[in-house]
Amino acid sequence: MQALHWLGRNAEGRAHTMRSATAFMMLAFARPTMVGAIWPSSRHLAHAMARGAEGARRIVELGAGTGAITEALCERHPEVPTTVVELQPELAERLRERFPGMTVLQAPAHEVLEVWPEGDEPVALVSSLPFRSLPPRWRDGTSRAIERFLRAQPDRRLIQYTYQPRAPFDLQLGDGLVWRKRTVVWRNAPPAWVWELGAP
Ligand SMILES: C[S@@+](CC[C@H](N)C(=O)[O-])C[C@H]1O[C@@H](n2cnc3c(N)ncnc32)[C@H](O)[C@@H]1O
Repeated sequence: MQALHWLGRNAEGRAHTMRSATAFMMLAFARPTMVGAIWPSSRHLAHAMARGAEGARRIVELGAGTGAITEALCERHPEVPTTVVELQPELAERLRERFPGMTVLQAPAHEVLEVWPEGDEPVALVSSLPFRSLPPRWRDGTSRAIERFLRAQPDRRLIQYTYQPRAPFDLQLGDGLVWRKRTVVWRNAPPAWVWELGAP
């Protein structure tokens, strides 16, 4: 009986993933610079990103897309309150259905960070935002908001992946933060470099 229940849930989960992946690919063709990828992240990349959030007391996922990384965050950090941010209404709605226990905000990442309450708990931003393809106005506004957010508290950090062995974006607000290359995930299409931005 339990096995049947599990099979049912598993089939439902797979159907949900297929629907999200289809919606994602259609958006990727319609708005390539804002989506920045044509496939969802692999589970290997998702788990590498989730490992980067170790020790955080709160997680904010930026640009969650289909929820591949959201799922890995749920598995690895079930006790950590997580806020999920996604700009595209259709993807945000699917994330809400799939992760009813999480706060899903359909909003631009910079707007969420700019009004984030002050506090001294360690926060990890876990981001799939496609900085290297975003239009310059979006890229610069979002990266500045992230820099300000991290500079406000030394226990805050950003975990971000790229499809090239170069830092996700150039820092604009001077010293006080450094990029660290954490790992390379070959089992992703294309392979991805995982980076951390935080206090030196
Ligand atoms: C590379 S895709 C995410 C891939 C995701 N890891 C997955 O497996 O589905 C980037 C996502 O960021 C979202 N996005 C782009 N700019 C954004 C912004 N300024 N604020 C919030 N989300 C944004 C896009 O809509 C897209 O879903």
